[in-house]
Amino acid sequence: MKDTLQDIKIRASQEIQEVLESEKLKGIQVKYLGKKGEITRVLRSMGSLSKEERPVIGNLANQVKEEISVLIEERKAQLARGEKAAQWEKERLDVTLPGNLPFFGQKHPLTLVMDEIKEIFLGMGFTIADGPEIETDYYNFEALNIPKEHPARDMQDSFYISEEIVLRTHTSPVQIRTMEKVAPEVPLRIIAPGKVYRRDDDATHSPMFHQVEGFAVDKDISLGDLKGTLLLFARQMFGKELKIRLRPSFFPFTEPSAEVDISCVMCRGEGCRVCGQSGWLEVLGAGMIHPRVLEVSGYNPEEVTGYAFGMGVERIAMLKYGFDDLRLFFSNDLRMLSQF
Ligand code: DAH
Repeated sequence: MKDTLQDIKIRASQEIQEVLESEKLKGIQVKYLGKKGEITRVLRSMGSLSKEERPVIGNLANQVKEEISVLIEERKAQLARGEKAAQWEKERLDVTLPGNLPFFGQKHPLTLVMDEIKEIFLGMGFTIADGPEIETDYYNFEALNIPKEHPARDMQDSFYISEEIVLRTHTSPVQIRTMEKVAPEVPLRIIAPGKVYRRDDDATHSPMFHQVEGFAVDKDISLGDLKGTLLLFARQMFGKELKIRLRPSFFPFTEPSAEVDISCVMCRGEGCRVCGQSGWLEVLGAGMIHPRVLEVSGYNPEEVTGYAFGMGVERIAMLKYGFDDLRLFFSNDLRMLSQF
């Protein structure tokens, strides 16, 4: 039996040395030390031994059991360390690998055009002013010389919040709000970009769209100043060769009033489908600020004059980018938006 125990000890330590996985080490533990293991078997068969031999073999068996246990514990710790290291190696973060590029957003084409318009006017000495999109009837209409029953209100079909409160139908109320603050000081050169709202919805009209209002007040401002300013703007926006023309028109808040056309950016004035063969494109409304408008805003129309103009940003953007449907701007289609 001594030999058997000796043999068990040698085989066990050999196997423990050689095993490479914790799972298999558990198997070895069961094989030698388990309830039906080899050592247990030796202890059970001790009944056949003499009284003298029994304690000797018993001792020896326990000693071998203890030794194998210690070897297994040591090996277990060793293997666990190795396996953990292998796991770490597998999961290691390689910071030198190229990263995943995030999706970069970009400016909306309308914002690009708006920025460009602002840049051009800032370059000419204009300052940017702002006004509320929820506006009173007074600023949106009344102070602009559009009284309650005036037919000019029909041109700007509106979203009313109450009888006196309306989503602004144009950026012109910023004229009044700004002049009220500054008057009687001159000179005043302002642009007011922003959103406006009308009950319109088709290929060339959206219920929400953008305008840029511009105006100047000073001593001796003339229609010539207006035309020069707009020509400079149009050329910076669309190209050096561009021409503009002013046609007589009507707006209650300007006198005289004009529609401003630019020579067609598609055919350079030759006549095409876009300009309806006329060679001209209507891009904005303008005029000399009506004396009554100056007056309600705190200026003396005997002392100062002013010009004003208002343009639709979508219209300018459509011409610049060759769009024929304004709804493209608001459909949030990345295939279109990512091209700018
Ligand atoms: N507010 C006008 C509109 O929305 C546009 C306009 C016309 C603005 C003439 C002006 C102007 O300042 O002088 O239809």
